[in-house]
Amino acid sequence: MELKSIILAAGKGTRMKSETPKVLHKIMDKTLLGYVLDNVKNIVTESFVIVGHHAEEVEKFVKENYASAKTVLQSPQLGTGHAVSMVCPQLENYAGQVIILCGDTPLIKEETLKKFVEYHNSVNSDITVMSTIFENPTNYGRIIREKDNSLKCIVEEKDATTEQKAVKEVNAGIYCLNWDKIKLAFSQLKSNNAQGEYYLTDIIEWGKTQNLNVNAYILEDNAEIYGINSRINLAHATKMMNERKLQALMENGVTIVDPSCTWISDDTEIGQDTIIYPSTYLEGKNKIGKNCKIGPFAHFRGSVEVADNVKIGNFVEVKKSKIDSNTNAGHLSYIGDSELGSHVNIGAGTITANFNPLTNTKSKTVLKDNVKIGSNSVLVAPVTVEEGANVAAGTVITKDVQPWTLAITRAPLKVIEGWVKRFIK
Ligand code: UD1
Ligand code: CA
Repeated sequence: MELKSIILAAGKGTRMKSETPKVLHKIMDKTLLGYVLDNVKNIVTESFVIVGHHAEEVEKFVKENYASAKTVLQSPQLGTGHAVSMVCPQLENYAGQVIILCGDTPLIKEETLKKFVEYHNSVNSDITVMSTIFENPTNYGRIIREKDNSLKCIVEEKDATTEQKAVKEVNAGIYCLNWDKIKLAFSQLKSNNAQGEYYLTDIIEWGKTQNLNVNAYILEDNAEIYGINSRINLAHATKMMNERKLQALMENGVTIVDPSCTWISDDTEIGQDTIIYPSTYLEGKNKIGKNCKIGPFAHFRGSVEVADNVKIGNFVEVKKSKIDSNTNAGHLSYIGDSELGSHVNIGAGTITANFNPLTNTKSKTVLKDNVKIGSNSVLVAPVTVEEGANVAAGTVITKDVQPWTLAITRAPLKVIEGWVKRFIK
């Protein structure tokens, strides 16, 4: 059956104490909402993001980065059930399924969502809620079951009795619905609860009154639904995400010398037998080939593509660049907006000067195959160094360099005999 997603992202996120909307906070240079949209993009035909607080900023982000997703405004924000009801007009004639997620739970995996929907289908469910077990369930909605263990309802912390508060099975906030059977519920939800909100969770009880098939799917790894409500949560989620990534890389044949001080974004691909040395920080989207040596202390800022057998050494920062095979940049360099051929050698301290702060523009540096750049050189972009050319140490390149030539800008060396001795009594 066709599947669409609704992602709830209109809430305020007060505890972040931020001018930035919560779902636009980042883990390794990718927004929380970006993770959720990426995790559903392969399983749904369309996504709706409910925006409200800081709506314009979130709308702009979605439009610029996820053209296939739509935003729907919820104003004022009267609760999670009210949020979903905002999409009803757009789904009036839709007879497929809907998966509902929150924009602040970036750790949920695509495989988990697939299994969740498979479960929903396998038991012919009309409403399936994802649940999980927390030793400390505080603040979550509790899953209340009948004596026969079937689902009864979900009770929010603020509405729960002492007995209900003791329940450790909680609502993960992810739902799968057979839309044509449930859509009516959204015009019938009531707000007579402790928070005066229209609760999405009330669709469970509503479904039962309609004799619908209502089920809970228990998620084993509760870390996947870890929600971000504060900066402390954000740091913790970043750590969990990183650990998961490093483990997957190691399982696929990448050496991580010290996982305790290596940071690699979820969107970085790395080939077999590449070695990542300690204190390396790779954020954004990158692709690294086989047999490379990266770090220690290397920094990739995204959109970096590195072919096989490349060495990027200590204190080398790389951004939005393509580096071909067998090329080395061993020490203390900045490579930005650049294209490096194969067998290029970048001497220590080489800088691609890509940014003109007066015109606020960025330009490209192109170094063709076999180019050798001497230490402490500056390549003032836009500039191309043609194949096999040599740039002498300490040179400032301001125009294109022809193939197999030597380019050098250097004041002549002057040696003054006995100069030091003049100062010695
Ligand atoms: C909700 C669930 C709770 C569950 C928990 C899991 C309800 C009533 N409760 O509680 O059972 O255990 O999530 O994390 O659904 N939002 C809107 N518009 C609104 C209100 C909220 O878009 O009017 C969005 C928020 O931005 C957030 C999500 O919905 O992404 C959840 O809202 P939040 O207020 O955090 O709900 P919880 O109290 O955590
Ligand atoms: Ca929440």
